[in-house]
Amino acid sequence: MNRIFSGVQPTGNLHLGNYLGAIRNWVRLQADYDCIFCVVDMHAITLWQDPAQLRAHVREVAAAFIASGIDPEKHILFNQSMVPAHAELAWIFNCVARMGWLNRMTQFKDKAGKNRENASVGLFAYPNLMAADILLYKATHVPVGEDQKQHLELTRDVAQKFNNDYKVDFFPIVEPLIFGAATRVMSLRDGSKKMSKSDESDYSRINMTDDADAIALKIRKAKTDPEPLPESTAGLERRPEAANLIGIYAGLSDSGVDEVCRRFAGSPFSEFKKELADLAVAVLSPIQDEMRRLMKDQTQIDSVLRQGAERAAAVAAPIVREVKEIVGYLRP
Ligand code: AMP
Ligand code: TRP
Repeated sequence: MNRIFSGVQPTGNLHLGNYLGAIRNWVRLQADYDCIFCVVDMHAITLWQDPAQLRAHVREVAAAFIASGIDPEKHILFNQSMVPAHAELAWIFNCVARMGWLNRMTQFKDKAGKNRENASVGLFAYPNLMAADILLYKATHVPVGEDQKQHLELTRDVAQKFNNDYKVDFFPIVEPLIFGAATRVMSLRDGSKKMSKSDESDYSRINMTDDADAIALKIRKAKTDPEPLPESTAGLERRPEAANLIGIYAGLSDSGVDEVCRRFAGSPFSEFKKELADLAVAVLSPIQDEMRRLMKDQTQIDSVLRQGAERAAAVAAPIVREVKEIVGYLRP
C-alpha cells in the first residue's frame, strides 16, 4: 500500500483555511493510504517558541486532527520530537544536501528576512529535516500546500543524491499531492490575501476555537460588494470577496461553486451570510466540541501521541538501521 506522510507545525490559531485546505483532505486520504501524520515541533523551534505555548499548541493540533476524523488507531498520529530518528536522519541529510540547494529555498529567504546572518542554522537546514521526516518512513506520497512544493523537490534531490553517492536504490522518489487552489480560503477582510494565522486582524479568519457567536459575527462583518449573488461562477470575476464566501460555502457543503451560485442566485449577501454562518456553525461545532473535550483531558492526548510515536518508531527502526549500515556507522 502507498504510504502518506504529512506534517503540520504546532503554531496555534488553526483556522478554517487549515481545515478546508489541509485537515479535511487528510481525513479523506485515510480511505486509500496508510497514513502517518506528524505534529512537527522540531520544525517549530527553528523560530523561537515559548516552551509552555509550544506544548499547548502540539496538543491543540493533535486534538483538532482527532476531532476532525483522523483515526489514530488505524493510522499514526504523533509528534516529531518523540521519535529521535528524525534528528538522526536529518543529520545524515545535512551531509548529503548541498549549501547551494538550500540557498535557493524561498521559504528560508522569507522567514529569515533581511537579517540572514542572524537566522538560526536550524531554519536554514529546515528542508533537510523535512526530507528526513518523509524518507524515514519511505513515504510515497506527501499531501502539502502549494508553498511546500519546493521543499518536496529538495526531498527528491536528497533521496536521489543519497542513492547515487552510496550506489544504492534505497530511498523512493516521493510524489507531492497538491490540493488545488479551489480549496484556498482567503481573508474575510481582503479577498486577495490568504486566510492566515499571522494576520493581525482576528476578523480576517475563523479560528477552530471560535464559538458560534464569533463565527456568525465574523461572517456578518466579512467584506463583500453591493451586488447580489450571481447565477454562475462567471459572475464572480473580479469579485474576490464574493467568490471567497461562496467558495467557503461550497467547501463546507461539499458542493460546487456553480451549484451554490444557482441556489442563491439574486439573493443579497446579507441573506446569504446568514445561511453561511449557520452552515459554518453546523459543520464546525461538533468538531470544536470534540476538540474541547479532548483538550480537557491532557493525559488522553499525550497517550495517543506517545502510542503513535511508538508505532512510528517501529516503522522507522529497520529503515534507520539500514541507512546507518549504508553510510558506514558501526553497529552500536
Ligand atoms: P500553515 O498554517 O501555513 O502552516 O499551513 C498548514 C496547512 O494548511 C498547509 O497544508 C496549508 O496549505 C493549509 N492552509 C493554510 N492556510 C490556508 C488557506 N488560507 N487556505 C487553504 N489552505 C490553507
Ligand atoms: N514544512 C511543512 C509546513 O510548514 C511542515 C512539514 C514538516 C511537512 N515536515 C513535513 C509537510 C513533511 C509534509 C511532509 O507546512
